[in-house]
Amino acid sequence: MTQDELKTLVGQAALRYVVPGEIVGVGTGSTVNKFIDALGTMRDRIPGAVSSSEATTERLKALGIRVFDANEVGELAVYIDGADEIDGRGYMVKGGGAALTREKIVAAQSRRFVCIADASKRVEVLGRFPLPVEVIRMASAHVARRFAALGGEAVLRMKDGQPLVTDNGQHILDVRGLSIREPLAFESEVNQWPGVVTVGVFAHQKAQVCLLGTATGVETLDYAG
Ligand code: 5RP
Repeated sequence: MTQDELKTLVGQAALRYVVPGEIVGVGTGSTVNKFIDALGTMRDRIPGAVSSSEATTERLKALGIRVFDANEVGELAVYIDGADEIDGRGYMVKGGGAALTREKIVAAQSRRFVCIADASKRVEVLGRFPLPVEVIRMASAHVARRFAALGGEAVLRMKDGQPLVTDNGQHILDVRGLSIREPLAFESEVNQWPGVVTVGVFAHQKAQVCLLGTATGVETLDYAG
C-alpha cells in the first residue's frame, strides 16, 4: 500500500471515534484531510467541528460541516489529528503543517486525542523530525541561540522566499539535532522561554489512541493506561 492509501485507511478508521450528536475537534494535515473527506459522510449526524487551522476550516466548510469558534463551545469528546512523530507512550512531535498552536489548544479542550498516522511516523525517541516551534517574530534569533546551547540547530521556516507566517501571525523555527528523551520536562522547559508561543512537543497533550496505518492494516495503539 502507498503512504497515501495508508492515510486514507486511518482517516476512515477514525470515523468510529466521532460521537454522533457531539462537536468534533479536527486537526490539520494531509492525513487529517482524508479524515475530513470521510467525515463528510456523517455531517448530518454531528452539529459541527472545532478547527485547528484556516486550511482545515476551509475544507470542512466546503463539505457543508459547520465550524464553531473554540470559545463558543465547552469540552469536546474527541480531537482527531495527525503527527510528524509518535513514540511508544503516545508523545508526539507536531507542527509540520505550521498549525501546532491551534492544534494544541483544541487538543487541550478535548477529552481524548486520537492520532492518525502512517507507520513511518512511529519512532523510539522523538527528535528525528525537525522540531517545529512557533515563536513571536522578534524572539526568533534569541530562541535559536537557546536551542544551540542544547545542541540543536534552529532554522527559520521559509515560504516563497519569505519567513512563513502562521495563522496567528507568527514565525516557525525548525530545530534539528535534538533527541527528546524526556518529552514532558522538555515541553515544560521550552514553553516558558520568553518568545516561545508553542513548542511542537505534544506530551502534556499526548494521544490516548493512535490508529497506525501499516502494511497489514490499521493497528490500534492504546496509551490511555
Ligand atoms: C500540522 C501537523 C500535522 O498533524 C503533521 O504535520 C502531520 O501531517 P501529515 O498528516 O500531512 O503528515 O502537526 O501542523
